[in-house]
Amino acid sequence: MSSTKSEKGSLLPSAQPAQPVPETSQRRKYVTFAVLVLCAFLQLGQYIHGFWFRRAPEQQHFPPASAEHSSLCPQVAPLVPEKSTDLYSGLAETFETKEFLFRAVDLLAGAVRIPTQSYDDLGPIGEDPRWEAFAPFHEYLLKSYPQVHATLNLTKVNTYGLVYHWKGTNSTLKPLLLTGHQDVVPVNPETYDEWVHPPFSGYFDGQYVWGRGSRDDKSGLIGVMTGIELLLERGFRPARSVVLAFGFDEEVSGKRGASALGEYLYETYGKDSFAMIVDEGGKITESYGGVFAVPSVGEKGYIDVRFELAAPGGHSSVPPAHTTIGMLARLIVEYENNQIEAVLSRNTPTYWHAECLAAYAPDLPDSIKDSMKYAGGSDEALRAAQEELFKDPTFKALVGTTTAVDIVSGGVKSNALPENVMAIANHRIATDSSVEEVKKHSTAILKTLATEFNLSYTAFGTSVTGDEPGYGMLTLSDAWGTALNPAPVSPVDGEDAAPFKLLSGTIKSTYKAHRALEEDVIPVIPSLVSGNTDTRYYWNLTSHIFRYSHYHAGSGTGLNGVHTINEACNATNLVEMMRFFTTLILNADESPAL
Ligand SMILES: *[C@@H]1O[C@H](CO)[C@@H](O)[C@H](O)[C@H]1NC(C)=O
Ligand SMILES: *[C@@H]1O[C@H](CO)[C@@H](O)[C@H](O)[C@H]1NC(C)=O
Ligand SMILES: *[C@@H]1O[C@H](CO)[C@@H](O)[C@H](O)[C@H]1NC(C)=O
Ligand SMILES: *[C@@H]1O[C@H](CO)[C@@H](O)[C@H](O)[C@H]1NC(C)=O
Ligand SMILES: *[C@@H]1O[C@H](CO)[C@@H](O)[C@H](O)[C@H]1NC(C)=O
Ligand SMILES: [Zn+2]
Repeated sequence: MSSTKSEKGSLLPSAQPAQPVPETSQRRKYVTFAVLVLCAFLQLGQYIHGFWFRRAPEQQHFPPASAEHSSLCPQVAPLVPEKSTDLYSGLAETFETKEFLFRAVDLLAGAVRIPTQSYDDLGPIGEDPRWEAFAPFHEYLLKSYPQVHATLNLTKVNTYGLVYHWKGTNSTLKPLLLTGHQDVVPVNPETYDEWVHPPFSGYFDGQYVWGRGSRDDKSGLIGVMTGIELLLERGFRPARSVVLAFGFDEEVSGKRGASALGEYLYETYGKDSFAMIVDEGGKITESYGGVFAVPSVGEKGYIDVRFELAAPGGHSSVPPAHTTIGMLARLIVEYENNQIEAVLSRNTPTYWHAECLAAYAPDLPDSIKDSMKYAGGSDEALRAAQEELFKDPTFKALVGTTTAVDIVSGGVKSNALPENVMAIANHRIATDSSVEEVKKHSTAILKTLATEFNLSYTAFGTSVTGDEPGYGMLTLSDAWGTALNPAPVSPVDGEDAAPFKLLSGTIKSTYKAHRALEEDVIPVIPSLVSGNTDTRYYWNLTSHIFRYSHYHAGSGTGLNGVHTINEACNATNLVEMMRFFTTLILNADESPAL
């Protein structure tokens, strides 16, 4: 995951106190009373029914899929291959052996020992020697995956980008694209001492593989490669092609890696040429007393808005009423006080997420559950749900377009009027908004103050106040030219949702098989990450993009420090990831629906 991303897999990490929904009128109270009586009556009926037909309590891992729940958050059945049954059960036996666990550990540990760190200030490939760390990583893959390299075609894109083509026997089937990244977040040498086991040791303590990248994202890359090596060892030949693409600078926004990979894949395979993409991202997580798989079906957009203010300088013994610093301060306050309001809207990933929690999270406050039941048809219920849900700042931030003024500078001398000052505000754009909308809003907020201060005002290349020269100049711009719209949202319901359903069914069967459970106990709930993965460069390749690492992160162990000290990968969970990838490939291979 990139550094912009919240590690929070769930949108709602913690329970919020329940608040009663305020009643608006006397008449509503009577209606409510009548409804309550009716509900009580129905409850009694259910109780009687439940008394006679109750399931064993230990089977009720999450609220059973009653009509109400399934309409709020439909779930599919666990999905296992129907044709490759022998292969599937043979693999299942392998995944349960200690021998295989050690093999998986060795493969990941070896990958962690090659420090493929990506830095913000990397120079061009071929000039900056720090890129050369990727060559031994390629050697390592070549040595570790003989079957993969004997069967799949490897193309290197922009020197270090890896694309493996595994040609299927049926070329009419759209290929499956599995992606990940080779690079890792750099380890600050000053923190080496704080690691329980050194960051590039790949040390295995019997439970965890330690080191930078052990989770993000070498576990994903090694998981995919090992899954395919296993399938090849057992003679599997896919009908549906499988393509792997591994970037090498995801942690510094994929400018050289995924960007080139995206272009190459587009030229080679064409627009909408893939059945689906599975990249790193949302995981298996615990929230509100439940365990959920949270594949991310969208990504927020972003823009850094730069404010530049210029005005005549001079000696500070004869100052104007407001220096550029004083004006900029007012402008920033105005900007912060007039942010785009967060609104929870139907048909967005955060709304689906809330619906699913209402259906399946045991400890979600009842008031939210009740409101979400009716939010689909009632604006009043939707607003009530929003009010409750927004008490969690993380959730509110994910729903809306956020504003954070993160950089400010200006002034060089205590006796000279500052001629140029600037500030930068970072925005994460809501999935139902756009870069254009944020630009418009930003422009409008500052217009009144710009006039009051007699500034000629230009925003994103267009003059707002006309050609009259003012006392000073205010300019708004896309700070680095890196604005990005929110990603297209992958369908999760209806006719077009076959890929999401296949992913869901695979998650469920993997989770169940890995724990030898009798029943499906893991709701799969659509989610959203606030940062961006390499998939920002893959939008044209398919409309079905899922950011999902089948990794059970557990809760609050203090370990697993993705992007910080003590990153470590639970070996059992690594094996589960491999199980997930093999099952996904086999399921996708058999599915006529993709
Ligand atoms: C690999 O590339 C060769 C030459 O381009 C081609 O003939 C062959 O079909 C490819 N094989 C796969 C598995 O893509
Ligand atoms: C290839 O897949 C298509 C779509 O599922 C199917 O109609 C066709 O029969 C398959 N061809 C072969 C040779 O199996
Ligand atoms: C704004 O500034 C310009 C340039 O200094 C000046 O000519 C003009 O009179 C000012 N307008 C007002 C309303 O103060
Ligand atoms: C998608 O393709 C269009 C042209 O076909 C191109 O302009 C655009 O940049 C592409 N977008 C991405 C994210 O690759
Ligand atoms: C590793 O993951 C497994 C399965 O999720 C779990 O049972 C086990 O407690 C984890 N081990 C550690 C040391 O966290
Ligand atoms: Zn990553």
